[in-house]
Amino acid sequence: MGWFLKTFNYSVGKKLLMALTGFFLILFLCIHLFGNSFLYLGRDAFNNYVHFLNETDLVYIIRVIEIILVLGFAFHIWDGIRLWWQNRKARPVKYFVKTVDPKSTWTSRNMIYSALIIFVFLIIHLRNFWYEFKYGSIKETGATDYDIVVKTFQDPVYMIFYVVAMVFLFLHLHHGFQSAFQTLGINHKKYTPFIVWFGRVIAFVLSAGFASFPIYFFFFYGGN
Ligand code: HEM
Repeated sequence: MGWFLKTFNYSVGKKLLMALTGFFLILFLCIHLFGNSFLYLGRDAFNNYVHFLNETDLVYIIRVIEIILVLGFAFHIWDGIRLWWQNRKARPVKYFVKTVDPKSTWTSRNMIYSALIIFVFLIIHLRNFWYEFKYGSIKETGATDYDIVVKTFQDPVYMIFYVVAMVFLFLHLHHGFQSAFQTLGINHKKYTPFIVWFGRVIAFVLSAGFASFPIYFFFFYGGN
């Protein structure tokens, strides 16, 4: 146990935890995007999918995954803030000259800000859907889970908010994916360009995939 605590007391250890939770959260996003794609198959397909998750024996597994998910988000955010604070403290401020590593990108220097926007998004998102599906009073009017999603995305404020948030998700993942590999020590002349490319593809597919739902339901959905 001692070695474990020691490892996670060092800065690298903290980053390691952030990298591992980051991979786990990306895996969750891939599964979540797949699940949301039932929205394109229509009301019954999506409602049956949500029913399958929440009202069959699978619900026990889902509850365990939810706890792991909350812990994953919590560790990721906690270590991100600690790391950002450490880097801030380590920055020389003596001469009021902004010292910026020329190799670092704007996105990599501003991960904390994209993270903050994604965090605000997550709170609003859980209120919109997770809470509404379980406890929302709109259900008393006979609205189904599918209707809740459609109604949310037909509101221009939410439509724009979701799409803008997905731009920040793209920026966050764009740097985060390759950074996690570096933290794990996977830095190779031959493989790193592929990892960078693959990270960009994942960032694009996830953020464009998620952004496609508000865009579709706002601009193209004819009702069914
Ligand atoms: C814009 C496209 C998105 C749509 C249409 C969408 C849809 C949904 C829906 C319908 C639920 C409720 C599921 C249920 O209670 O059965 C949900 C839950 C959730 N969403 Fe999203 N989501 C989107 C993007 C995201 C993104 C980008 C994130 C992460 C940054 C995210 C994180 C979550 C989390 C953590 C939950 C709770 C999961 C659970 O309780 O099992 N979602 N989402």
